[in-house]
Amino acid sequence: MKESGPIRVPKGLAGVSVADTKISKSASDGALVYRGYPIAEIASNATFEETAYLILHGRLPKSGELESFSGDLNSNSKVDDGVFRVMAELGSKAHPIDVIRTAVSSLGSIDSKQGVPAQETSIESKMSVLAANCQRVPRGEAPRLPREGLKFSDNLLQMLTSKKASEFDRWVFERVLIFYLEHDMNASSFTVRVVASTLADPYAAASAGLASLKGPLHGGANEAAMEMFLEVSDPDRAAEYLELAFKQGRKVMGFGHRVYKQFDPRARLCKEYLAEMIKRRGEDDRLFRLSDRMERYMWEKKKIPPNLDYYAAPIFYSLGIDVPLYTPIFAASRVFGWMAHYNEQVEDNKLIRPDSVYVGPSGLKYTPLDKR
Ligand code: COA
Repeated sequence: MKESGPIRVPKGLAGVSVADTKISKSASDGALVYRGYPIAEIASNATFEETAYLILHGRLPKSGELESFSGDLNSNSKVDDGVFRVMAELGSKAHPIDVIRTAVSSLGSIDSKQGVPAQETSIESKMSVLAANCQRVPRGEAPRLPREGLKFSDNLLQMLTSKKASEFDRWVFERVLIFYLEHDMNASSFTVRVVASTLADPYAAASAGLASLKGPLHGGANEAAMEMFLEVSDPDRAAEYLELAFKQGRKVMGFGHRVYKQFDPRARLCKEYLAEMIKRRGEDDRLFRLSDRMERYMWEKKKIPPNLDYYAAPIFYSLGIDVPLYTPIFAASRVFGWMAHYNEQVEDNKLIRPDSVYVGPSGLKYTPLDKR
């Protein structure tokens, strides 16, 4: 019988479905559901903890379940000094996303938690502490630790910045974390599933997730977008900057998405939040005008909408968070989605090991070293 060759798929697996999932789904028309709930429904009503529980367990928690879930996150947040020492060793020149990846990897060797559920809770609880400290500790500063009795988002914000945030600003920060929590078969969740499919532990999967999050085409886009806003600075320079990027064939950070071609619902909501934040503070709205102007020009010229990172960046900036911490914050939230994907993969596992079409030469003769 003639053997058929491997099935060829589009570059970047674009448009290829690699799993059945019940966790979340995004669609090209701008729809996004978390476990069946439209994202706007979640954003208007839920807390971060409720959303994390929903993503992990498939349903909203009852009050006792929520209390014990939040309690577990709090009680497992203590990071071993050994992990902080590894972070400190990397020194102040290390990028925070490299520091947090190394920290999670070292946590895998140091943590004494046994069994997948306990290991997952441990990573979920500690990732925000690592995110908040992945710049401070390598600089030789003392770690900022979570406070008893604070909710997840308030705790993360108070560890990230010493500024006192208003109730509305804290509400907005929690919404951004909710948006970062989970997103379909994105690059890092797929990476986590590949590692999970080998039956490696959650620490290994989360370290790999962090590695794939670093790049500017994925998680690194929020930092890259903010650097762009700072570079352009003046709304009147928006068109000039974009025209140069088009001419040079450069991607404009914070725009475009593999799935969303009309709009990213999370970006739309974040834009509203940013406008309201600035209005309530009565501050200079230059950053908003700049991002709005660039968005309009990009749509007019290229029909490419902004993504979540584009509007999360100025929100983080307005909250006084250092730019190199934006991608680690993404990780502190997305780790819950990663663990949901880890579990879904392992529950119905098959090793993810695709095939390839060999297009290189063949039949070559070995040339000894001194003859090359
Ligand atoms: N700036 C300029 N052009 C862009 C663009 C951007 N940010 N995003 C997409 N495009 C253009 C591409 O150049 C390409 O044009 P072409 O068909 O003339 O070659 C077309 O749109 C399709 O883009 P492509 O990169 O093939 O689509 P994709 O599905 O692979 O890309 C991203 C998705 C996210 C990788 C891409 O939009 C991107 O690089 N964005 C910037 C980084 C970013 O914000 N990442 C966060 C994503 S949430």
